Amino acid sequence: MDATIVLLPGDGIGPEIVAQARRVLDVVAQQFGHSFTMPEHAIGGNAIDSFGDPLPEATLTACKNSQAVLLGAVGGPKWDDPNAKTRPEAGLLRIRKEMGLFANLRPTKTWDELLDASPLKREIVAGTDILFVRELTGGIYFGESGRRPHPSGEEAWNTMIYSTGEIERVVRVAADAARKRRGKLTMVDKANVLESSRLWRQVSERLMKTEYPDLAYNVVLVDSMAMHLISRPREFDVVVTENLFGDILTDEASMLPGSLGLLPSASIGSSGPGLFEPIHGSAPDIAGKNLANPLATILATAMMLRHSMAMNAEADAIENSVSRVLKSGLRTKDIAGGGESVGTTEMGNAVVKSLIG
Ligand code: IPM
Ligand code: MG
Repeated sequence: MDATIVLLPGDGIGPEIVAQARRVLDVVAQQFGHSFTMPEHAIGGNAIDSFGDPLPEATLTACKNSQAVLLGAVGGPKWDDPNAKTRPEAGLLRIRKEMGLFANLRPTKTWDELLDASPLKREIVAGTDILFVRELTGGIYFGESGRRPHPSGEEAWNTMIYSTGEIERVVRVAADAARKRRGKLTMVDKANVLESSRLWRQVSERLMKTEYPDLAYNVVLVDSMAMHLISRPREFDVVVTENLFGDILTDEASMLPGSLGLLPSASIGSSGPGLFEPIHGSAPDIAGKNLANPLATILATAMMLRHSMAMNAEADAIENSVSRVLKSGLRTKDIAGGGESVGTTEMGNAVVKSLIG
């Protein structure tokens, strides 16, 4: 198969980790007889510097015309000025919206080899395997917002707004995924307070009754979910929730496996290319030092091959290589627990070597 995969290295450690993912994709192409064209485009802070826009038109066009997009990370202190005209994050939000990527899949699975890297007790986190499906193009991230004068200074507001259709499509993505997993779906909301949550509850309950009666379905309030996630994480299979709750809960959940450096994520729409990325940020403090863990990005390429190109064997090969490398004891600093560690390139080398066999 011939495929164009757009690489968006972004800021901070983005370029280093995407470079390792590119090597892995080159090896996979060679071994399985594919041809991947991988043009790089600008996004985020570096795009603001070069083009005055965190999502230049050329980047968006290339992404829309590709089979899939692999993103490193965006943002950094250089572009943090609250008075700046635009921010790197705006590029990320716009690409999600413009490409219609309404469902963000964040699998959170513990690796037996790394249980001791988790800040939580081994007996609590062992065996955790949750798929978060976060709504990504609606809610308070995209609702009406503004500021106006107020006797005390100013007031500012954001609006959490959802339509029936927006809820249905993302709940269906989650429910379809649950059918292929352990058949459990948990919907997280704040229906005791928020009207938009009450719509979520109504719409998803109806969908479950009419389209997914085979699934074990329950609802949990977001505050108690924050608690259950670290007290009994094994009980959850697929979790679906709105944009802001999903943002917060997936960062919390990333501590179950111990390191952000191992968690990939996929953002998908109803058709067209998906966007794949590690869930961690641009880590400007370690950028350019060959310290970043490239595994989340490498695992994101596996998700990409599986979801966007139906290349299951290729995805398995990547995931098995990562697993073998971890079993062999190789660690980047973030997962070494103070023990011996290797750099970004060495970790990439090891995965490539394991792929070649
Ligand atoms: C994420 C990030 C983004 C978000 C930021 C960088 C805008 O935290 O992908 O989870 O809030 O969605
Ligand atoms: Mg986040």
